[in-house]
Amino acid sequence: MFSKLAHTQAIAVLRRGAHASVSASTSVATKKKIQGPLSSEYIFEREAKYGAHNYHPLPVALEKGKGIYVWDVEGRKYFDFLSAYSAVNQGHCHPKVVEALKSQAEKLALTSRAFYNDVLGEYEEYITKMFNYSKVLPMNTGVEAGETACKLARKWAYTVKGIPKYKAKIIFAAGNFWGRTMAAVSSSTDPTSYDGFGPFMPGFEVIPYNDLPALERALQDPNIAAFMVEPIQGEAGVVVPDEGYLTGVRELCTKHDVLFIADEIQTGLARTGKMLAVDHENVRPDLVLLGKALSGGLYPVSAVLCDDEIMLTIKPGEHGSTYGGNPLACRVAMAALEVIEEEALNENAEAMGNLLRRELMKTPSDIVTCVRGKGLLNAIVIRETKALDYDAWKVCLRLRDNGLLAKPTHGDIIRLAPPLVIKEDEIRECIDIIHKTILSF
Ligand SMILES: Cc1ncc(COP(=O)(O)O)c(C=O)c1O
Repeated sequence: MFSKLAHTQAIAVLRRGAHASVSASTSVATKKKIQGPLSSEYIFEREAKYGAHNYHPLPVALEKGKGIYVWDVEGRKYFDFLSAYSAVNQGHCHPKVVEALKSQAEKLALTSRAFYNDVLGEYEEYITKMFNYSKVLPMNTGVEAGETACKLARKWAYTVKGIPKYKAKIIFAAGNFWGRTMAAVSSSTDPTSYDGFGPFMPGFEVIPYNDLPALERALQDPNIAAFMVEPIQGEAGVVVPDEGYLTGVRELCTKHDVLFIADEIQTGLARTGKMLAVDHENVRPDLVLLGKALSGGLYPVSAVLCDDEIMLTIKPGEHGSTYGGNPLACRVAMAALEVIEEEALNENAEAMGNLLRRELMKTPSDIVTCVRGKGLLNAIVIRETKALDYDAWKVCLRLRDNGLLAKPTHGDIIRLAPPLVIKEDEIRECIDIIHKTILSF
């Protein structure tokens, strides 16, 4: 276990300053040999000292994960109710996905797309048949899938729809989140995402979410190429649109010859109780974006799915990525998708999600003003108080102390999204922890 002396020595090394880089790195190496297990405090301070300050993590330092559980460096065990923002739908370190990663890593990991490899085509056939699209374009992170979709939409607009060159517009919904690149923050309505990063990408328009009349008005513009939307807004705080919204989006986009791009990077792959969240309304978007759980949390893998009329507008040399479609990613993605099907994770997400929301609604407290979600993508809203004796951050700290990890979003919302392999007795234990924690304020 943690030694206080070792911890003090380690912190002293950190405080010595960045300019003494040679001796500091030697010291870090030496320190590693003498210090024993790292403490959480040491880990927090080391990251604060050497890493960019672009995140504000909950203070817990994890070193191990298995299924629905994670353990910190002091050996404390927690339920993971974030699942790495829905990347770990299959549970941490799922043996089948780990095995796929290991065996492919020993054989061939990366070729680039300068050459063919023997796995990419197998994966492309597998995923396109699974989701019923004629082609897939493999990328790595979710935001790259979003970028790819924007490029495809613009290319399609000029070469198929006939929009005058460089006049194409893409519509987004207020509250959207699709990553951190310049294009993604250009469509954002959240100042913490975009403020200070202009000038922004032209040709993007924003309308209110869950507002079909607003979409219809925006679609009167003949230069609209696409509408990109999350079936449920994840980062905005699990905002579930009215039933019929996705059907309405489909109808309006078809009517105005505009591409419907569904960002399923957080909602897809069984998270909401169906393989895709659009399946709740039996709607087929023109483009589907997948990421996160496409790798079971082991490796960044993302994908854009669409039909030939759209996909084949991009020609050789016009788009790509060194790592996109590499054999390791393809094997991992196939294993991750197989796990979702074999273990019927969509059914479990639906059943466990219903149970979670039903029980949380019974919490006899006015601290929680709302419980919402679909499947295992859920959120509770914490009442804001002037006295600040509680807020979502404080609730998350106390949840952590009671053995459950969740993260606030937008100050007053706590997302509750465990891995989809969670069983009934486990989710009941988590419901007890959440009840107990909320009632303790
Ligand atoms: C809906 C949605 N799209 C895209 C992204 C971006 O994914 P990544 O962080 O892998 O770039 C996210 C990330 O949270 C997301 O929630």
